Amino acid sequence: MRHFSWGKENEVFLAQIDAEHRDLFRVADELQHAIAGGAPAAQVKVHLHSLVAHAEEHFSHEEWLMQSTSYPSFGWHKQQHETARRRLKLFVPLIESGDAEAGDLFFEFLSGWLEDHTTVTDRMMGAYVRNYERAHGATTFAGWPGVGEPAGAAAPTAAPEEPRAFPKTVQFCKACGDQTTHEMRPGGLVCVKCIGRSVSAELDRD
Ligand SMILES: [Fe+2]
Repeated sequence: MRHFSWGKENEVFLAQIDAEHRDLFRVADELQHAIAGGAPAAQVKVHLHSLVAHAEEHFSHEEWLMQSTSYPSFGWHKQQHETARRRLKLFVPLIESGDAEAGDLFFEFLSGWLEDHTTVTDRMMGAYVRNYERAHGATTFAGWPGVGEPAGAAAPTAAPEEPRAFPKTVQFCKACGDQTTHEMRPGGLVCVKCIGRSVSAELDRD
């Protein structure tokens, strides 16, 4: 059996991301125990699909967060998510078909990946986002439900939750300084109003 247990060494110091990581470790642990305990195929399938849903929702949250804050190592970080996505796609049907060897290989991969990714890659992202929030006066995760819930709060067979809308970071336009919902442009954040102005200025020059 592989070890799936979130601990302080996995902490990235972003409450929402840490809560999602705890969920991922818990769901992986439940899946492993279901298979090891000889659970019926239908139950294994529920755990598998829960893992896929939790992983995908979590990856897309982190990718949103990195893009919203212009994280310089976004591409490198996303590649690691893509590796996990590919492995999930490969292993899920094999595990569903009852392939025990595939299950062992998958848990070996997942335990190593989760440990490496959370302790290095996600922790680097966490440090950057905290600095970004300090520099921009932004509260990226304010108002999010579920932060700080204890691991194991949800029933193992519960249907995956509907993906939650990720909140927009409160930010300020680098051109006019107004607080704004933002759009990303090379070189920084510019509000929709200022983007509109620069586009019309370019058109005027043509
Ligand atoms: Fe990540």
